Amino acid sequence: MSTIPSLEELHALGAAQQPNYPDPDALAKVVGKLRSVPPLVFAGECDELTDKIAAVTRGEAFILQGGDCAETLEGATADNVRAKLRVLLQMAVVLTYASSVPVVKIGRLAGQYAKPRSKDTETRVGPEGPVTLPAYRGDAVNGFDFTPESRMPDPQRLLDVYHASASTLNLARAFVTGGYADLRQVHTWNQDFIKDSPFASRYEALAGEIDRAMAFMQAIGVADADEFHRADFASSHEALVLEYEHALTRIDSRTEEPYDVSGHFVWIGERTRQLSGAHVELLSRIKNPIGVKLGPTTSPDDAIALASKLNPANSPGRLTFITRFGASKIRDGLPPIIEKVTAEGLQVAWITDPMHGNTFEASSGYKTRSFDDVLDEVQGFFDVHRSLGTWPGGLHVELTGDNVTECVGGGEQLSDADLATRYESVCDPRLNRVQSLEMAFLVADMLRKA
Ligand code: PEP
Ligand code: CO
Repeated sequence: MSTIPSLEELHALGAAQQPNYPDPDALAKVVGKLRSVPPLVFAGECDELTDKIAAVTRGEAFILQGGDCAETLEGATADNVRAKLRVLLQMAVVLTYASSVPVVKIGRLAGQYAKPRSKDTETRVGPEGPVTLPAYRGDAVNGFDFTPESRMPDPQRLLDVYHASASTLNLARAFVTGGYADLRQVHTWNQDFIKDSPFASRYEALAGEIDRAMAFMQAIGVADADEFHRADFASSHEALVLEYEHALTRIDSRTEEPYDVSGHFVWIGERTRQLSGAHVELLSRIKNPIGVKLGPTTSPDDAIALASKLNPANSPGRLTFITRFGASKIRDGLPPIIEKVTAEGLQVAWITDPMHGNTFEASSGYKTRSFDDVLDEVQGFFDVHRSLGTWPGGLHVELTGDNVTECVGGGEQLSDADLATRYESVCDPRLNRVQSLEMAFLVADMLRKA
């Protein structure tokens, strides 16, 4: 049985990327309250997800993980949640149908509210000269508005995040089990898509094929399988703010083991994966399926050490490595890591995050990513796995169900100049609905060949 260190013990290990709360008493009150709120997910659901990821580790399934870079409290609306789910369901159906591989669907939602930042502060030049304030660390920590009040870390926000996550997850669960995700709705998900988009018509054609396949199955008497009427869907986020994740780590009554019940799957970010640091320690103790982001500075030995610490029993499904090298680095950087992990016989699922190594500032000043770079990293990921005989297990993307203009390129050929039209992300640029669907078709082709 695993035990959980206290918050104080965790902080003593060194915790990167934590907010500086001005009032420790207020923080302690919030943590006390969070310790008593009901869990957002059940331990048994986490175990089911572990089993599904174990199939990915064996090369029998593929993960689609996606959602906002940073959720916002204001954005926790029915329309937003539905739009994100809809694009994820569309992508999953494209991937499954085109490749005949089961797709494990995981949202970056219902908890993705805290952000690591490269700098602690942000400086903007105002009418009276430069002003420096704490950096925005996500709605879990402080406000996006550039004022001293808004940028001050406020622990109450952790409670707001819990409640927003509860309502988001409640709605997501209702959608996926209550009929919206029924395969007979494949056409409905495509409604009000940009009508002249070639990907909308390509999707429509695929949906027609699914209709025929369903009619065939109905004719032979198997159309009532549960899988046709509901989808499996899991939540995930970066486990970053220790107070929140620690307060929501509970002992499961069935197994007496600790689970972080703030989400089904939690991951450790590129900036908090120090082997002896607080995040690795906490996540080494919980029983959820977990991920670790691996960037271009990762050595093969780092990966081995992380796997030994986080998955000492070497159980398949427990650990996923989410690689985010950048398009120009993946083909050289990834092979030595996979080779060593494979040679050691370590059971991990490999996912590509083609977003975080490919961010740049456009001439217009917006933080953006080029669709071609994103696609090139995914292609590199598939190429590397193919050459090593390992399984490219999944795709992790920042996306939204709306027609935002945050990433350049793609079938709509968004340019630098278009970014200003509808740039809504409070953090990193996301694929919009058309770009996401296009990505799904392109990845489905790669998957079929894998
Ligand atoms: C993220 O996923 O939003 C993120 C910050 O990623 P990384 O830790 O890989 O930089
Ligand atoms: Co991001």
